[in-house]
Amino acid sequence: MKSDCTVTKAVLHGVYILRSTDEPRLEAELLLAHSLNVSRAWIAAHPEATLTEPTITTYNNCLQLRNDGEPLPYLVGYWEFFSIDYAVDKRALIPRPETEMIVEHALSIADNHPHTHIVDVGTGCGTIAIALATNLPNALLFATDISQDALSLAIVNSTSHGVYNRIEFVQADLLTSMGRFDVICANLPYLTTQETGTLVVGKHEPHIALDGGANGLNIIQQMISTAGTHLNDGGTLLMEIGDSSTRILEMAEFYFGNADCKLLPDLAGRPRMLQVTT
Ligand SMILES: C[S@@+](CC[C@H](N)C(=O)[O-])C[C@H]1O[C@@H](n2cnc3c(N)ncnc32)[C@H](O)[C@@H]1O
Repeated sequence: MKSDCTVTKAVLHGVYILRSTDEPRLEAELLLAHSLNVSRAWIAAHPEATLTEPTITTYNNCLQLRNDGEPLPYLVGYWEFFSIDYAVDKRALIPRPETEMIVEHALSIADNHPHTHIVDVGTGCGTIAIALATNLPNALLFATDISQDALSLAIVNSTSHGVYNRIEFVQADLLTSMGRFDVICANLPYLTTQETGTLVVGKHEPHIALDGGANGLNIIQQMISTAGTHLNDGGTLLMEIGDSSTRILEMAEFYFGNADCKLLPDLAGRPRMLQVTT
């Protein structure tokens, strides 16, 4: 790109470079907006604006990194989840839309109970806890993660969304040393170690957020086997799952005995969440 480059030309150049991605125009506009430190709407409103040399360099670097597989959210530094922008970086997993299902179910359970005790286990960048805190002004919220790096990012996000004082952040292995809750939410690692080592996601996002051991079920099983002692009577466990849904349901039925255990599908009809109500 030349130094007289306009916004329109830069976007077209980006679309060409990113032509193998699913949404090259969206990605090019977001990366250009990031390089200019403006909103995407500004890009649309200023097609004839010219770019400075440093901006062109920054934009070209972003395009190169994106073409090499770097996730777009890590490049722009934020990502939207449940209509909230979260700061994201390599300290934690990028929030995924399928996890919104846990938030929706937790909201429907907690809506009518003002002082619901809720914990988000493996909070990452604060994904579930912050979405719940902003939507449930009277709930008592806790968030745990084994990774201090992830927790430090979650604290940044909770502060920028004005809910830091509403959530108690604890570094813990699952719910070790934690009390009892009405709702336990968890999106924990569920890939196999082999998948973590070979899939693209494992190349860029933290392995501690992905690797569920040899069969992908180590952490899920640890969670299911201990969650019962942390649930109040009539409490609910909501857990995102990947493959092995039948095994996971059997596990829940084994450890929870008479509780109501079921798998809930995502919009594509795939079992995506385990719900256990005691
Ligand atoms: C799949 S990521 C999900 C992050 C976030 N909940 C989300 O949905 O975006 C799993 C998270 O669990 C954390 N984690 C892994 N093992 C854990 C453990 N034994 N106890 C607590 N957190 C754990 C990881 O550090 C990571 O932040």
